Amino acid sequence: MYIKSNKGGPPPYPPGPRGLPLVGNLPFLDPELHTYFATLARRHGPIFKLWLGNKLGIVISSSALARQVLKDQDTTFANRDVPIAGLVGTYGGRDIVSNPYGPEWRMLRKVCALKMLNNTTLDSVYDLRRRQLRETVGYMYNRVGSPLNIGEQMFLTILNVITNMLWGGTVQGNERSSLGAEFRQVVSEMTGLLGTPNLSDFYPGLARFDLQGIEKKMNGLARKFDKIFDVIIDQRLKIDGEGGNKTGDKDFLQFLLQLKEEGDSKTPLTMIHVKALLMDMVVGGSETSSNSIEFAMVEVMNKPEILRKAQQELEEVVGKDKIVEESHIHKLPYLYAVMKEVLRLHPALPLLVPHCPSETCTVGGFTIPKGARVFVNVWEVHRDPSVWGKCSGIQSGEVLEWQMGLQWK
Ligand code: HEM
Repeated sequence: MYIKSNKGGPPPYPPGPRGLPLVGNLPFLDPELHTYFATLARRHGPIFKLWLGNKLGIVISSSALARQVLKDQDTTFANRDVPIAGLVGTYGGRDIVSNPYGPEWRMLRKVCALKMLNNTTLDSVYDLRRRQLRETVGYMYNRVGSPLNIGEQMFLTILNVITNMLWGGTVQGNERSSLGAEFRQVVSEMTGLLGTPNLSDFYPGLARFDLQGIEKKMNGLARKFDKIFDVIIDQRLKIDGEGGNKTGDKDFLQFLLQLKEEGDSKTPLTMIHVKALLMDMVVGGSETSSNSIEFAMVEVMNKPEILRKAQQELEEVVGKDKIVEESHIHKLPYLYAVMKEVLRLHPALPLLVPHCPSETCTVGGFTIPKGARVFVNVWEVHRDPSVWGKCSGIQSGEVLEWQMGLQWK
């Protein structure tokens, strides 16, 4: 691509559609942002700009440029452009997603990746995941022949899996199910608010008026969450004070509270961090996972040939009357490829969580100013014919064969 230089000055901003004075491109946005951006990319190229009120948006739509943002310049782009609703919902941005790059950012990732989500800890909570899934399979098995709301069931199952891993073996009986229902409602409302375009984000001068009431609503939901977390943390501290739970199961909250006590004096993990991490896991992990599973079910139900092949593989590897374990996945390349294909076709966050350069930089030969909101349209990258050939994904099965060749040869 030839890019006009600015007579020895910095490269120009990327091209983009014309906007209107003051509002920029806001009035033309389609609620299905990823498909709208894909159409614009066909006209303006793999990197283009648009004005969202006073905010400059940059959209990346090719894997080569995504690599420049997410890998080659990952430190510059480590920050997120966090909407006001996101800040309010995460104790003022103290969670792993919103924290700006720095010691706290590093500390939270270290806690998550090294201490909490390592293989040993994940293995130690395997029983909690298995128990929950078996409960759901049993529930569904008993309703064979009757209509079932898969999305609803998957949401509850994943939420239960996550909350069980977070503070599992200690929340008892009825209390757990009522918490489940309350969480479901609060999580759905929160993700809805996070996805609602907010004038306060596009015109920071208007933020104090909270014209759409999004900040107020989010505040209310965050307070509900905080109360639930307080109850759960108090329960956990009480049980640990009495010598631990009866089952001996370890959960993430236990790890987090232990790490908080061990406290690194320079960048300590505080109670606010603990709660913000719980929030990330519950809000970030539930709808993403359950929507992906729902899409997988829809795709295979619409493609009986693929369903048959997956069932045949399961019968051969696991056995007809046996139960699938997580450890089987390495011997189930076809099922694995189906899941990867579903994630390609239906990425849960088609524009990721917008990134935000901490300093002005260059991507694809264009200037990206500090503070811009950078969307990486993975939905479009996943459909790039130069990467994926002329395939229609799961509809033809070609991609599955291709993926299987790549992954399992
Ligand atoms: C199918 C399931 C899931 C999908 C498709 C998914 C997708 C994503 C995506 C696209 C991002 C943003 C990446 C970026 O902007 O660069 C992300 C970040 C994140 N996800 Fe997930 N996610 C899933 C499940 C989960 C689960 C189960 C958890 C936790 C229990 C979780 C916790 C997080 C956290 C904490 C972040 C922020 C990471 C960071 O900023 O470094 N996600 N996820």
